[in-house]
Amino acid sequence: LAPITTADLRAKKHAGEPIAMITAYDYPSAKLAEEAGADMILVGDSLGMVVLGYDSTLPVTMADMLHHSKAVTRAANRTFVVTDLPFLSYHGTVEEGVKNAGRLLQEGLAKAVKMEGGKELAPLVTRCVQAGIPVMGHIGLTPQAVHQLGGFKVQGRDVEAARRLMEEAEVLQEAGIFSLVLECVPEEVAALISSRLDIPVIGIGAGPACDGQVLVFHDLVGYASSIQPKFVKRYTDIGGSIKDAISTYVSDVKERRFPGPEHVFHAKEEVISQLYG
Ligand code: KIV
Ligand code: NA
Repeated sequence: LAPITTADLRAKKHAGEPIAMITAYDYPSAKLAEEAGADMILVGDSLGMVVLGYDSTLPVTMADMLHHSKAVTRAANRTFVVTDLPFLSYHGTVEEGVKNAGRLLQEGLAKAVKMEGGKELAPLVTRCVQAGIPVMGHIGLTPQAVHQLGGFKVQGRDVEAARRLMEEAEVLQEAGIFSLVLECVPEEVAALISSRLDIPVIGIGAGPACDGQVLVFHDLVGYASSIQPKFVKRYTDIGGSIKDAISTYVSDVKERRFPGPEHVFHAKEEVISQLYG
C-alpha cells in the first residue's frame, strides 16, 4: 500500500470517511499502529507524561521529540507521521520555529509537524508551508498552555469562546495548515468548525462529527496511564496483562521455577569432564 499523503487525508474528509489517528512514541507502538490500519500517527509531546513521567508536557525538548520520532518513523512506512513541536521551540522568532519544524522532518523523518495555538501562529504556519513543511494546527485545550488555562478543562463553552475557536480555525486554515486538532470542546462547536473548514478536523474530546479522531496510545490500551479523562475509551487493559506477567516471572525466579530445562545451554561432555574432573 502506498504511503498516505495530506491529499489522501483531505480526500477522506470530502468522501465522509473518518480518519483514525493514534499517538505512538517508539518502534513497537508505531509498528502495531501501522499494522492495525491507523491512517495517522502522532508523535505527541504527551510522551512527556505517558512515557517520561512528567506531570505536564512543558519539560519536553526538541531532543526528546527527535529521539522518539526517529524510532516511530523506522516502523511507520504507510502511516502519515506528524510530530509535535515542543513547548518553546516555536514561540521565539519565525526563523527559529521554521528551523525546529524542519529538523523534525529532516532528522526525525516526520511528514508534518503540529503546533498548539491560534492566530498568533499564522506567520509561522505560512513560512513553514512555503518551506514545504506541512503543518497541523491544534486549538481548544492546548496542554502546553495548561498554566494559562488553569488546568485541563473543556474549552469554547460560551458563545464568545466558541466564536474565538471558530475564528482561530479559519485563520489557521487560511495560513495553510493541512489539518487541525480540536481538543476538548463541546461537540456542537466541533461539528460547526468541522463543517466550515475544508481541511480534516481531528477531534479528541470533541465528539463524533469531527473528520477523524485521535487518542493517546497509552490511554487507549490501558498501559500504565493513570489519568482517565471522560473522552478516553479504554479498549484493553494491557497494563494489567503486563503486570500479571511480570509478577508471575518474579515469583518464578524467587521460587526457582524459572529458568526451566528448556531455557538453558549445555557445555560439551569433554568440557564438563575437564572442568569438573
Ligand atoms: O501530544 C498529544 O498526544 C496530542 C494529542 C492529544 C492531540 O497533542
Ligand atoms: Na501534544
